[in-house]
Amino acid sequence: MSLPPPLRPEGPYHVCFVCLGNICRSPVAEVVARAQIDKAGLAARVTVDSAGTGDWHVGHRMNSGSRAVLASGGYDGDAHLARQFDRSWDPDLVLAMDKSNLKNLRALYRADPGGQRDGSRVRLFGEVAGLGDAEVPDPYGGGPGDFAEVLRMVESAMPSLVSQLAAVATQPRE
Ligand code: 4NP
Repeated sequence: MSLPPPLRPEGPYHVCFVCLGNICRSPVAEVVARAQIDKAGLAARVTVDSAGTGDWHVGHRMNSGSRAVLASGGYDGDAHLARQFDRSWDPDLVLAMDKSNLKNLRALYRADPGGQRDGSRVRLFGEVAGLGDAEVPDPYGGGPGDFAEVLRMVESAMPSLVSQLAAVATQPRE
């Protein structure tokens, strides 16, 4: 299934990665995606950010396990501050890191009072990025190996996602 078309005729294609707390998984996906998007020369065409479905960690820095594993891979997660997904946002593509967050995001879209939200823009990260229906497991409270597994999954999935983003973000718009 191809990625949903851009919502807006101008401006970059906006992807938001979403997990529960926005301190472990989705910020890792955001940082890795941004690095690969930059490398692919797509920085002006695709913008990425991240959020959590929960509000417990709003304003907090990335979990130290995520920061450490990112640093070990040559990335920098220091600038991240956690946010909660806001129902007024309307990204071109919302990628949930697991099925529970996918379900919660879809419910949020269905509950939109204007009824204008397109729930098909909310997808499972692993499914879109070629990992089948694999979920990125929650590493919160886990050890370095759990965070390493998050980075491994995210990095292995990202080339497929970036090539799909290149296709959708460079197609002619109305
Ligand atoms: P994340 O991990 O969703 O990958 O950011 C978690 C962070 C916090 C909690 C659970 C998962 N928590 O229960 O506070």
